[in-house]
Amino acid sequence: MTAHTTSLKVDDKVIDLPVKEGTIGPAVVDIGKLYAQTGMFTYDPGFTSTAACESKITYIDGDEGVLLYRGYPIEQLAEHGDFLESCYLLLYGELPTPTQKADFDYRVTRHTMVHEQMMRFFQGFRRDAHPMAVMVASVGAMSAFYHDSTDISDPYQRMVASMRMIAKMPTLAAMAFKYSIGQPFVYPKNDLDYTSNFLRMCFAVPCEEYKVNPVLSRALDRIFILHADHEQNASTSTVRLAGSSGANPFACIAAGIACLWGPAHGGANEAALQMLQEIGHVDNIPKYIAKAKDKNDPFRLMGFGHRVYKNYDPRAKIMQKTCHEVLNELGIKDDPLLDVAVELERIALSDPYFIEKKLYPNIDFYSGITLKAMGFPTDMFTVLFALARTVGWIGQWKEMIEDPGQRIGRPRQLYTGEPRREYTPMAQRR
Ligand code: SDX
Repeated sequence: MTAHTTSLKVDDKVIDLPVKEGTIGPAVVDIGKLYAQTGMFTYDPGFTSTAACESKITYIDGDEGVLLYRGYPIEQLAEHGDFLESCYLLLYGELPTPTQKADFDYRVTRHTMVHEQMMRFFQGFRRDAHPMAVMVASVGAMSAFYHDSTDISDPYQRMVASMRMIAKMPTLAAMAFKYSIGQPFVYPKNDLDYTSNFLRMCFAVPCEEYKVNPVLSRALDRIFILHADHEQNASTSTVRLAGSSGANPFACIAAGIACLWGPAHGGANEAALQMLQEIGHVDNIPKYIAKAKDKNDPFRLMGFGHRVYKNYDPRAKIMQKTCHEVLNELGIKDDPLLDVAVELERIALSDPYFIEKKLYPNIDFYSGITLKAMGFPTDMFTVLFALARTVGWIGQWKEMIEDPGQRIGRPRQLYTGEPRREYTPMAQRR
């Protein structure tokens, strides 16, 4: 993998650092020995120029707007496959054969029930708890219910824990939703596909039969595919760092959920919809565009911008198409929020400020409108993101754990605090 070396001059010393090439994308300079050779660290707080690992799972080209899962373009996977096919691909590296797909679907379907005691676990929450708080707690609590799949040194237990999380996230997400609206939990049904099962667990009530709308189920399944993995984003990096200490997989995924909750990351879909609601009408857009440009105003256009995509987020294009499909299916013709979103996007994409800063709509811009139309409350949007991203977190965690060279992640720092000083007794402090 080492292609050649590059030289770095530090004071009067020149050191050679290995350069490693990937299959596609930027090469890396291996600085593993920099501190030993120079006594200096590199400094990159936002990791804008830092590769934290080697991975074969997902590739993003931010300039070209490319997203590949194991080499397959996201557009083709979203168009032709279902979410569990992408789960299999992300976990095992190849598209499943018909037999492999049937077996995988069967195994996931038969892990969808949660331990009955978890129902009582939920009773401890306030009804108005944010569903993401419930998800962080309940996924973390899975390590208190599923002791037989927490030994990460056992490949079989790692597989069982992985299947349990992929299978049970929809059930826990639906339970968080039902609990927040005071409706009874709905058990999964094994004769439904993954996403139809989730929709039924969310929207069915004991008083009548619930018929899954196949157009909505297909649209949500596609939304899950779009959110399944995304290279070394903040929550995935959190899962990898937590996993590097040997923490059990349930605890690692709970840490990922906690990180995803932030409005700069997965919480942006909830924040984007709240922003559209705050803007309210297309006439108010110029005021908010001005706020977004104002250096002294912390306001940002939620759903715009990305650390990697400096071109259009390929997922946003598919999300926009799915949004229109869902609104048409539901007969929602003149959604004022969609009018604001479309006009906001048009203005932002023609405004020199946003063009210069390469601020394009990201995946979170249209997802909120779509999920709201489907009947999900705003505070459930990031829960759905976490549901879909669970397979990405698990796939990245699995890749890290199976790496023979894996060791605990432990970054250093640039210390700018006080040098050593002597303790001042209380009597001498003024
Ligand atoms: C996700 O990493 C992933 O892959 C994440 C994700 C995934 O699938 O896992 O893709 C999911 O998190 C998508 C992003 C969702 N977040 C939002 O929509 C929140 C709004 N966006 C911003 O907060 C911001 O764009 C980030 C956090 C997404 C990216 O931040 P960066 O790369 O650190 O960029 P930055 O904050 O340094 O901004 C660069 C410039 C700044 O101006 P200057 O200081 O250079 O003058 O662009 C400006 C920012 O002020 N800017 C914005 C803006 N985003 C950046 N100005 C107005 N509105 C915005 N949304």
